Amino acid sequence: MMNDILQFKMFKTVAVGLLIISSNVLSSGYKFPDGFMFGASTAAYQIEGGWNEDGKGENIWDRMTRSRPELISDRSNGDVACDSYHKYKEDVALAKDLNLKCYRFSISWSRIAPSGEVHKLNPLGIAYYNRLIDELIANDIVPLVTMYHWDIPQYLQDLGGWVNPIMSDYFKEYARVLFSHFGDRVKWWITINEPKETCKGYSFNGYAPYLHLNQTGYYMAGHTQLIAHSKVYHLYNDEFRAKQQGKVSLSVNGFFYVPKDEQSQDDVDTAERANQFERGWFSHPVYKGDYPPVMRQWVDKKSKQEGRPWSTLPTFTKKEIELLNGTADFYALNYYSTRMVKHGSDADVNYNPDAEFETYVDKSWPVSLAPWIIAVPEGFKRLLVWIKNEYGNPPVIITENGFGDNGTLNDFERISYIKSHLSAALRAIHEDECNVFGYTVWSLLDDFEWMNGYVYRFGLVSVDFNNPQRPRTLKASYGFFKKVVATYGLDDSSSTTHSLKLWLNIFFCLITMYSIYIFYILPR
Ligand code: BGC
Repeated sequence: MMNDILQFKMFKTVAVGLLIISSNVLSSGYKFPDGFMFGASTAAYQIEGGWNEDGKGENIWDRMTRSRPELISDRSNGDVACDSYHKYKEDVALAKDLNLKCYRFSISWSRIAPSGEVHKLNPLGIAYYNRLIDELIANDIVPLVTMYHWDIPQYLQDLGGWVNPIMSDYFKEYARVLFSHFGDRVKWWITINEPKETCKGYSFNGYAPYLHLNQTGYYMAGHTQLIAHSKVYHLYNDEFRAKQQGKVSLSVNGFFYVPKDEQSQDDVDTAERANQFERGWFSHPVYKGDYPPVMRQWVDKKSKQEGRPWSTLPTFTKKEIELLNGTADFYALNYYSTRMVKHGSDADVNYNPDAEFETYVDKSWPVSLAPWIIAVPEGFKRLLVWIKNEYGNPPVIITENGFGDNGTLNDFERISYIKSHLSAALRAIHEDECNVFGYTVWSLLDDFEWMNGYVYRFGLVSVDFNNPQRPRTLKASYGFFKKVVATYGLDDSSSTTHSLKLWLNIFFCLITMYSIYIFYILPR
């Protein structure tokens, strides 16, 4: 009898120990929800090459990089880039091997319609995207298509580009071509990638077309893009949605801003204002119909102080507000970094001076080689909560997030950046009930990084840009991401950290079992 009791107690002790081990191992991380859309992102000018092949027309990046190479850090261009125009099957095979649910790529407008005008289409350009889409679908990968990722046809730029309101109609007609030719297979559309960055090309000498039109050009380019987006959204609703059953949005980027001093009301207000100028500029209109009130107020005030007869921030008509309201079927979020802010007028050239804030970084935040990318995963989590509260918890897909380095194959810093941001997303999903349904990492491949040429590398896969064959080599981050996709979580069962964690768990459990035995079983 005594023996039975002892046996029972020992059995119980072992059971408790096993429970502790298993719960520690299994609950060491949250999981992404079933069906989570893992993917990778790219953009046409950054990877395709084939800049003048098969009837493609010249776009603003072709023009700028070829006529003014001194503007690009390493005087390079996207003439060949990753040569994905020819090697797309290899790239789709990589996506397949990663087991990605979706692949985000952009369509080069001047490959579809060389001048941008749709009365003269380029059948070979259309055929290229048909091949790419078919290849993705044959491999069970969902195409997530950006219509415009910064490369408008040069002819349309010569007409004024995004500061000419007529661009919105050209864009709508271009979108009609895309819906008609590809909408039977493409169900996820992003009209415009990061409209704010395009605006920099018209104001702060940021990107192509490299114009310096100050605040007027900055806001005008944004205004036209918003109207263009709303026209495309309604075109889809009116003529394609019933049949094609897809979803349409635009992707919005920006830092997240947090108060320098969380206790200071002035800093809290400044951070909120900065976020409204940064993300609210393009999110508020598509969720609520107009610019954020604080942005309207501050730009109007500034324009008045400057003695202008009208505000540099254009005004939407009542009709335009109605058409803009509710034109995002999902929130496409690009996020790389966070800054702390205080009220001030010493704005960096990269930030909008009208918003009157100064930025600060915490010295402990890890900086990437690309200096604007400072890893602040906590800021990312706060941004997801901000979006949830601001826009009624919309479905969110993170369409860009990634890390720039010198191209090393042992890219452990990239792994740590991506891992910490995925972990922040997981916490936002599980602890704050944020409705995040996907994550497409920037980027599948090292690519042409705009003004920085090939200086910074963002790929999970390295591309040798000195070799005409542009061979691809897998980096450590590729293996890491593959495991995340396979396991829906961040527990990496073969990694050293995980084994260490497992052994530590076993060690502590043995001590627990031993103590139970000494203090509980032995004395009886
Ligand atoms: C852009 C990408 C770019 C990435 C990293 C994003 O803002 O959409 O085209 O490569 O930043 O620089």
